[in-house]
Amino acid sequence: MRIAVCPGSFDPVTNGHLDVFARAADLADEVVVAVLHNKSKSSLFTVDERIEILREVVAPLGNIRIDSFHGLLVDYCRTNGIKAIVKGLRAVSDFDYEFQMAQMNYRLAGVETLFVSTNPLYSYLSSSLVKEVATYGGDVHGLVPEAVLDRLQRRISDTMGEAGTMGERGTMGPAGR
Ligand code: PNS
Repeated sequence: MRIAVCPGSFDPVTNGHLDVFARAADLADEVVVAVLHNKSKSSLFTVDERIEILREVVAPLGNIRIDSFHGLLVDYCRTNGIKAIVKGLRAVSDFDYEFQMAQMNYRLAGVETLFVSTNPLYSYLSSSLVKEVATYGGDVHGLVPEAVLDRLQRRISDTMGEAGTMGERGTMGPAGR
């Protein structure tokens, strides 16, 4: 069985991510969407919340399951018999870092990275931009799944209410994809 992994922060998942998952699901027997536990990056949603949202949004796609991981992605791949990482490439600006990671992951464990070119509808989209736009009252309908919309609004107003600004949990970290 060929298993591929789509790793990421998914804080929150966007329609661009979903497009990549669906395309990976066409290429592999099974796709694992793996959420990184990243202590050095603040997030709007907890890993458990992100997992819950992801489970809801991939439910219609039969061969995708959700998991989370700590540490190196290649260690997760080794433990789970995963030979390929699938990622979306949005633009040339993604390429340098993604190519570097792909080469490192191959060097460390012989795990291949397959890039799918992001659907042009979503090529400008990132989780961090969605959070920023939503924080200032912008409309993110059509950019994130329905399951994200309500939770996003609620979380942003809770976080703003708590601190008057985006608090620790809601601090805009480095650009999440
Ligand atoms: O959604 P993100 O935050 O851009 O995803 C980045 C992610 C999780 C794919 C990347 O940071 C990663 O693979 N982290 C795991 C740690 C690791 O393996 N680092 C070495 C990469 S060569």
